Order: sequence, then structure tokens, then C-alpha cells
Amino acid sequence: MPKIRIPIANPIIQEEEIEEVVKVLKSGFIAQGPKVAEFEEKFAEFIGTKYAIATSSGTTALHVALLSCGIGEGDEVITTPFTFAATGNSILYTGARPVFVDIEKDTFNIDPKKIEEAITPNTKAIMPVQLYGQSAEMDKINEIAKKHELFVIEDAAQAHGAIYKEKKVGSMGDMGCFSFYPTKNMTTSEGGMITTNNKELAEKARMLRAHGESKRYKHSILGYNFRMTDISAAIGLAQLKKIDTFNQKRIDNANYLTKELDDINGITAPKTLNRVKHVYHQYTIKIESGNRDEWVKFINENGIGTGIHYPIPIYKQELYLELGYDYELEETEKAANSVISLPVHPSLSKDDLATIVKVLKEASAKFS
Ligand SMILES: Cc1ncc(COP(=O)(O)O)c(C=O)c1O
Repeated sequence: MPKIRIPIANPIIQEEEIEEVVKVLKSGFIAQGPKVAEFEEKFAEFIGTKYAIATSSGTTALHVALLSCGIGEGDEVITTPFTFAATGNSILYTGARPVFVDIEKDTFNIDPKKIEEAITPNTKAIMPVQLYGQSAEMDKINEIAKKHELFVIEDAAQAHGAIYKEKKVGSMGDMGCFSFYPTKNMTTSEGGMITTNNKELAEKARMLRAHGESKRYKHSILGYNFRMTDISAAIGLAQLKKIDTFNQKRIDNANYLTKELDDINGITAPKTLNRVKHVYHQYTIKIESGNRDEWVKFINENGIGTGIHYPIPIYKQELYLELGYDYELEETEKAANSVISLPVHPSLSKDDLATIVKVLKEASAKFS
């Protein structure tokens, strides 16, 4: 294994996070308690929704959001296959079937032009993923959803603080779902959050997260233990104060990389839509010539971490082949075979960024 000097991700945990966690540990409230309530209130404020419901992970946030919308056996949910497995799996947990629609080649997000042809009488929801920190075309998606009376659940796991036409990601659908996994733009260790403006959906989500309790020991529906702990919430509250600074650093790093890499042979730098704030959870380039594995090997051998997000479209994962999925979508296939994510996280130094550019230039000279 080559020695990686510049990792692909690096969670920033500082004194403040440590002090807040110690306070919680000393308080006696170490499961879901006042810190979770405070984190929910402040996160809702940050996203601009009326409600936020904390969960144990981004995956459980998606699961609870789907169940809150009444999605289950016999239903179909339209989503993208070019995402982390949790997006598709959360739909499967409910008994519904994910229906995969191809992506746009420039943004890697679900292509709204292809959604309507995938709608059937069983379709109940659209779940766009705000991939790599950039919003999908939410105006178009919401318009289709309205016309066909479908729920919209944003998988915003990678897009804390991203904006689409003045609106925060996570505030544009019926529900938004975030992940606070350590590689994300902000972390709570494991953790997730649902955002919504709909009181009924918020109440249902709160119940589903905690064994269907409407009051202490009164169980009205079948729920789960998907609660967040106050320990995680304390980390989240400290991170929330810094998320705008973290995101700005990611944006500055991405702008520098794009300026330097844009006209290098063999690479396409990421593209952003008009009127969006892309928060660069990932900085993902496309390799247009040579063999991607060779590019990756060379970059890693020169000490730079990389990621392939994602090498296998969901419909081609073994589990999904077993479930009978047997198609390929053109743009998804191309993306899965050509993307490489490069480090863009806030702790990169100027030297790190210059090294990334230098190594990519060398790779370009070698492989294209
Ligand atoms: C697009 C997407 N959806 C859902 C998730 C699931 O989040 P978690 O890992 O917190 O369960 C992730 C996390 O990696 C993700 O990237």
C-alpha cells in the first residue's frame, strides 16, 4: 500500500468538540436528551425548516422519512443509481421498490428529463440525491412531483449548507435527510437529521425514531430505536458553528483545483449549475483518456488519497441483481467508469493543493 500523505477526508475535531462531549458525559444525560433537542432546533434554523428530527445515522433518517410518508410494500420510489448504497437500501427496508433513473453527465445528479417516463401508478415518491454537495434540479423535480402528486424526499446526506436558487438543500422537498458520518462536511461521529416544514410528517418521524411512542410508554405505531445520543449532538452543535467556514474552505479549495486543472488534457473538472452553492463534499473529476485504475495508482503512489464515488451503480450491486434488476443506464455507466474524487477537505494546506495539481499534471502527461 502506498503511503498517503494527503488523505481524501479528514474530520476536524477540535478542543470545543472535546469539551462539549466531556460536559455531556459528566451531566448524566448521555442518551437522547437536551443536547439533541438543542441540536434539532439549531439545525432546523440553519436549513430554514420549521422542524428537524435527529436520528442515529443518515440511513435511518432516510428510512424514517420514507415511512413517515407512508411508503411501503407495493410502492415505487424514483431515485438515482449513482449514489451510496444507503439511498437504495432505505427504500428496500420499507418494502418499496427503488426505480433508478439515469443521471445528467455534467452534475452526476438525477436527470429530471428522464423522471416522468419512469412514473407508474405505483410511484409514491422521488428521492433525488444532492450528490457531492451540489443540488439536483429541484425546481423541475418539484414540478413533476406536484403534477403527479408524489412526495419528494431529498437525500441531502452530502450537502449540508448547499443552496439551490436561494433555498437551502433539505428545505425544498417534503423531507430532507442528512448524514453526519465523519467524512461528511460536518460530523457527529455517526448521526443523521431529517428536516421538514410539515408538522404531521415531523410528528410521525419523531414517533418512528423512538418505538412509535406518542407519549412515554404509549406505543401507537411500530417504530424503531433510531435515536441520536446527546454525546453525538454535542459534537454536532460545535460543528454547526463552523460549518459555513468549513464549506467556504472547501469551495476555495475546489475553485483553486478547477482553475489549475481545467485545461489539463484527459481531465474534466466538476461543473456547477447556475444559481447553486456547491459545498464540495467531494471534488470529483472525470478521466477522459487512459485507464482510470492507472491514474488512481499513480496519484496514490504520489501520496494523494482518492475515492471512487461510485464504482458500481446500485442496480448492478449483487443484492440488486438478485432482486431482478438487469439494466444499464448510459450516463451512470460512463460516470461509474470514469470518476475520481480528489482531496478537497478544509484541512488541506496550500502546499497540499499545489502537490495535488503537480501530481495530476504529471499523470496527465503520462496517460493522455
Ligand atoms: C448519498 C448518501 N445517502 C445516504 C448516506 C447514509 O448516511 P450514513 O452513513 O450516515 O448512514 C450516505 C452516507 O455515506 C450518502 O452519501
